[in-house]
Amino acid sequence: MKQTDFNQIINRHHTGSVKWDFIDRYLQLDETDLLPMWVSDFDFQCPLEVRQALHHRVEHGIFGYSERDDQYYQAVMDWFSKRHQLPLQREWFTSIEGVVPGLAILIQLLSQPGDPIVIQGPYYGSFAKIVTLNGREVLENPLAFGPQGYQFDFDHLEACFEQRKPPLLLLCNPHNPTGRCWTRDELTQLMTLCSRYGVTVISDEIWADLLLPGETFTSVLHLDESWQDHVISATSASKSFGLSSLRISNFLIPNDQTRNAFVERLNAHGLDVFNALSMTAATAAYQQGETWLDALQQYLANNRRWFEQALAYAAPWCKMTRAEGTYLAWLDCRALGLDDNALQQALIHQSKIAASMGVSFGEQGKGFIRLNLGCPRQYLESAIAGLARLKPSL
Ligand SMILES: Cc1ncc(COP(=O)(O)O)c(C=O)c1O
Repeated sequence: MKQTDFNQIINRHHTGSVKWDFIDRYLQLDETDLLPMWVSDFDFQCPLEVRQALHHRVEHGIFGYSERDDQYYQAVMDWFSKRHQLPLQREWFTSIEGVVPGLAILIQLLSQPGDPIVIQGPYYGSFAKIVTLNGREVLENPLAFGPQGYQFDFDHLEACFEQRKPPLLLLCNPHNPTGRCWTRDELTQLMTLCSRYGVTVISDEIWADLLLPGETFTSVLHLDESWQDHVISATSASKSFGLSSLRISNFLIPNDQTRNAFVERLNAHGLDVFNALSMTAATAAYQQGETWLDALQQYLANNRRWFEQALAYAAPWCKMTRAEGTYLAWLDCRALGLDDNALQQALIHQSKIAASMGVSFGEQGKGFIRLNLGCPRQYLESAIAGLARLKPSL
């Protein structure tokens, strides 16, 4: 086994990969020869240390009921303390297989059917899905888009709070799809408002480790301690280390009552058993994956810089928004003058790219697309060649 080579092309077909094997089924397309730049998982092998730990565990050969052990907790706590200067308390931990299912259960627990729940558009599509499928209403507080990039619209947010009295706000930090990593000042302003109106903030921090050079991540748990009763942070090693199908995520809930109620809900669904391989992988990643993650971040930063420059040259009509984190590119395609359906058709038939269409991120995403830059450079070259085939109609 070798350490990951980020330039290596690895065939992911016939591995049950949603991104590579299910383009036609999920996107309802007939085309199968598209470059998949949609789902946010990357096309790199996970760290060698994680693969070795998994091999070792598989060799053991017994996969009975399993529970998170001391090593698991310590690995997560050490990681957050070292990487983000965030001391976590062990009693805050609750775990569930994924961030999205955890968010859904918290929505059920902390709001009533019909309640409005605030999300900031353009938003990660699963946020709207779990809000509406759980019988709640999406109350959108669109991000303001200006020369400084995307920012919270606090005036609109306050009006939402006053008029609709939502119990919850779902925050995404760093933000999918824009890549904004909210600053301490922005989060402080947000929390000041939320605490004035009694709104609990569930912060999805799954992208926290994937920052561009020089950027820092601020968790809701970094903020004033007096707010801790009203914040929840959702984390996972899955995005950082490419472990999305090895399901385990942590919800850090400082409020005892909320945490106990959440754990009770998990028990009520029999969700109190953990996957041995998931825990092995997450523990190894947090314990031994730091050098690998540094190298990944460097590769992703270079990918982003290269892509932005190539785009400016080959497809100047397409504007890339400034990001501080994630490996997602949020691209403004409105200069093409196409509606979203025509834009998708052009991407499929002319560019040969399977993109995430901006409209799936709500109203604010119209005319935009999201591309996943977490791939070997060679794929980015194909994507640029494909985008260069599109021309704005004069
Ligand atoms: C913001 C955000 N939250 C959650 C998820 C998915 O998390 P999980 O697979 O743990 O449910 C994603 C995946 O793209 C995401 O972007």
